[in-house]
Amino acid sequence: MRAPGNPRRGQGSQTAFSGILQLQHTRHQAHPFYPESHPMATTPKARPEQGEAREHQVRTIFSEIAPRYDLLNHVLSLNIDRRWRRRAVDRLGLPSGTGRAPGRGGAEDVPTPASPRILDACAGTYDLSLELVRRKGFQGRVVASDFARPMLVEGKKKLEGTPVSPVTGDTLRLPFPDAAFDGAMVAFGLRNLADLDRGLREFARVLRPGSRLVILEFTTPPNPLIRGGYHFYFHHILPRIGRIVSGHPWAYTYLPESVKEFPGPDGLEARIRAAGFAGVEWEFVSLGIAAIHTAVR
Ligand SMILES: C[S@@+](CC[C@H](N)C(=O)[O-])C[C@H]1O[C@@H](n2cnc3c(N)ncnc32)[C@H](O)[C@@H]1O
Repeated sequence: MRAPGNPRRGQGSQTAFSGILQLQHTRHQAHPFYPESHPMATTPKARPEQGEAREHQVRTIFSEIAPRYDLLNHVLSLNIDRRWRRRAVDRLGLPSGTGRAPGRGGAEDVPTPASPRILDACAGTYDLSLELVRRKGFQGRVVASDFARPMLVEGKKKLEGTPVSPVTGDTLRLPFPDAAFDGAMVAFGLRNLADLDRGLREFARVLRPGSRLVILEFTTPPNPLIRGGYHFYFHHILPRIGRIVSGHPWAYTYLPESVKEFPGPDGLEARIRAAGFAGVEWEFVSLGIAAIHTAVR
């Protein structure tokens, strides 16, 4: 196990958030429909790439759909995504949370500072960050990092007067010192990482011992009936609506493909544990369309 405070990055806490950017609100232009001849337009399955190509693919997708991301999110999930994010924030187990923290190795055993610093990685347009900071009694700060700058810029209008600081940063190389955070969360981001284990190790590195990681991610429902309907929606309805509304030919085909290749909840639990976490627990939400994992550093 890594020793707490290992100065691998050679940074002190004074410079913990020196990478915070003052984002200019320059509106990202919506990407037009690709012409038929565009190589992306002929990628029928939008199969998730691997390694560096995956990073490029993911950053490109989210940079291009940023202007329509919020709308599509709520339409395609019939607004259920809001409930999922609420539940995920509950599971952080902060004093301001409305939910009960998990019992085994739970946050109730670990004193949380009055002004906790929380990381929202792969933050996109900040919906998860906002779910936390709008809670009555929350007195901390959220650092919201993402490597697709247009997503951060697009969401910036929602941040006025909130203690959320956007940072352009890659979850595989988080620009923060060791043990910099009192909690971390990630919603619908983990499945996009080019290297899942490296990403999980980065979370372990930046979390102080005893603090909590919460992961909200799509999964495949265990019930065959629900699974059938889910597959039909995810593979036939969602890509069509996504294509029409976003104007992107395959971003919403990539989504179900990326869920398909992501480990199931038990597999993810094992990977989280292998990255240096304890007390890993998970629960399905909405009949297993998504799952929330929690773990203690
Ligand atoms: C589906 S969106 C989720 C956004 C937000 N968390 C939410 O709940 O709506 C996934 C986000 O993860 C970001 N992302 C994917 N891989 C990343 C990486 N390696 N580093 C940083 N951000 C990443 C994308 O740019 C995108 O904004």
